[in-house]
Amino acid sequence: MPRRGLVVGNWKMNGSIAFVQALTQAVGRGVAERERDRPLPCDVVLCPPFTGLSVAGQSLTGSTVRLGGQNSSEAVSGPFTGEISGSMLRDVGCSHVILGHSERRTLFGEGDAGIARKMVAAFREGLVPIVCLGETLSERTAGHTLDVIRTQWLALCPALPEEEEKRSHWVLAYEPVWAIGTGRHATPEQIQAVHGFIRQQLNDHLGATIASRIQILYGGSVTPDNALAIFSQRDVDGGLIGGASLKADTFLAIIDAYLEKF
Ligand code: 13P
Repeated sequence: MPRRGLVVGNWKMNGSIAFVQALTQAVGRGVAERERDRPLPCDVVLCPPFTGLSVAGQSLTGSTVRLGGQNSSEAVSGPFTGEISGSMLRDVGCSHVILGHSERRTLFGEGDAGIARKMVAAFREGLVPIVCLGETLSERTAGHTLDVIRTQWLALCPALPEEEEKRSHWVLAYEPVWAIGTGRHATPEQIQAVHGFIRQQLNDHLGATIASRIQILYGGSVTPDNALAIFSQRDVDGGLIGGASLKADTFLAIIDAYLEKF
């Protein structure tokens, strides 16, 4: 049975309340139209900024489109000015949370150990963590891509829950740093090489059954024009979409590209 796919819109720090309302409604309508023909082979998750989560949740009432946070704290509550906890995300209707995005790693100093602790917190709160990995351009040029990916992935291993059935309830997103927001996406071959490597790592450390269930997304300059070639790769289970998720028609066209895979 093919793995269920996942297409996620990461809106980053964009959007007034009016913008969030209009875009969530338009995506919700578009997804509902597509579901009239057949159940979708993928889930759709929108990650507006924190200030938009509440209104996005209201706009998506009755929709299968789900909500995610763009980050969350490792702490439960307390004196952590500016932080948002996993339980707060649950409270506002989130099912998912993006962790370890390269913008958090490079601009806000997040490291592998802290990301693993955030992952533990997300599991504890019943959120599905979408954890980002990826190499910089200099790491790729130096031929270190797979070493970087291995190091980042191994740091996450201790954060996985003990319970067998929960160990596949998370998502990996391969986002080469040099492809994010640059208009320069990795080639389908480069993407499959890394996704295949990640799948093999999952297989070696977690066993074949769990490895076959974990979704691996690609992110970095995905557009309606390149999405089908990327999604057609064997170990690509969907996308983490930045800029192209800020317009309903381009985001829906990317979802359509995923539907073409089946
Ligand atoms: P772009 O699609 O804008 O390159 O962003 C990708 C990304 O960072 C998604 O998390």
